[in-house]
Amino acid sequence: MSIPERLNPAFAPAQPAVLDPLEQARGRLIVALDVPDAARAAQLVDRLEGTCHWFKVGLELFAAAGPAVLEPLIGRGHSVFLDLKFHDIPNTVAGAVRSAAGLGVRMLTVHAAGGPAMLAAAREALSGIENPPELLAVTVLTSMDAGQVNAVGVERSPADQAILLARMGLDAGMRGFVCSPQEVARLRGLTGPEGVLVVPGIRPAGASVGDQKRVATPAAALREGASYLVVGRPITQAAHPAEAAEAILEEMAEALKA
Ligand code: C5P
Repeated sequence: MSIPERLNPAFAPAQPAVLDPLEQARGRLIVALDVPDAARAAQLVDRLEGTCHWFKVGLELFAAAGPAVLEPLIGRGHSVFLDLKFHDIPNTVAGAVRSAAGLGVRMLTVHAAGGPAMLAAAREALSGIENPPELLAVTVLTSMDAGQVNAVGVERSPADQAILLARMGLDAGMRGFVCSPQEVARLRGLTGPEGVLVVPGIRPAGASVGDQKRVATPAAALREGASYLVVGRPITQAAHPAEAAEAILEEMAEALKA
């Protein structure tokens, strides 16, 4: 599939068009800091300094270390994706989104399954904020296969459920989504070039899949229309995280050249 939209600055991070493919790739790789404490996060970020610019702070690290863990990251000029996947009544989610936006993060997540009123409240909470973070709706977790999706009462396939949630999100005014590599092409078809599609479940060929079910390689996810790739364990649990990240970045750069 040809992806001319990857050249569209609407979904690529702000950077000059002349940037070489490796630097473009660097702007589109988000490392998931799924570690238990701030010390381990700092160690990883040190090891990835100069290689990676985007870091995702999720539930494990945020629950352990709180908002203070974001300060050194933002202070060093890194972009932070705060992935707390809010899912609650609209009023509560709106307040949480407002609080999170005040922390200086560049992306944050809510669960699309919270419904259109919750998504609208989350969006509304960001209106009036200057240079707000990108609000992303999580469709179906990449760890959920058909059995898991069916177990929570959804009879559709994970991909069809993700598409349904994305359509609903678009109707509620969202443009950013988290989805698996397996439905990113269909989502890109729905959102057009303005969509910001953030894709976890990335595994370089031969890497361990872990608990992820719906995975793809970095190159395949980009070719299918991903704006950003989220990679955790293949980098964070590598013996040499910076080397693992560089290998992924090179694969991404090759895909961006093609
Ligand atoms: O280690 P791994 O590469 O599987 O990490 C993927 C990261 O992306 C985790 O932090 C996980 O919480 C997150 N994520 C996901 N699936 C989603 C949304 C976020 O795996 N749909």
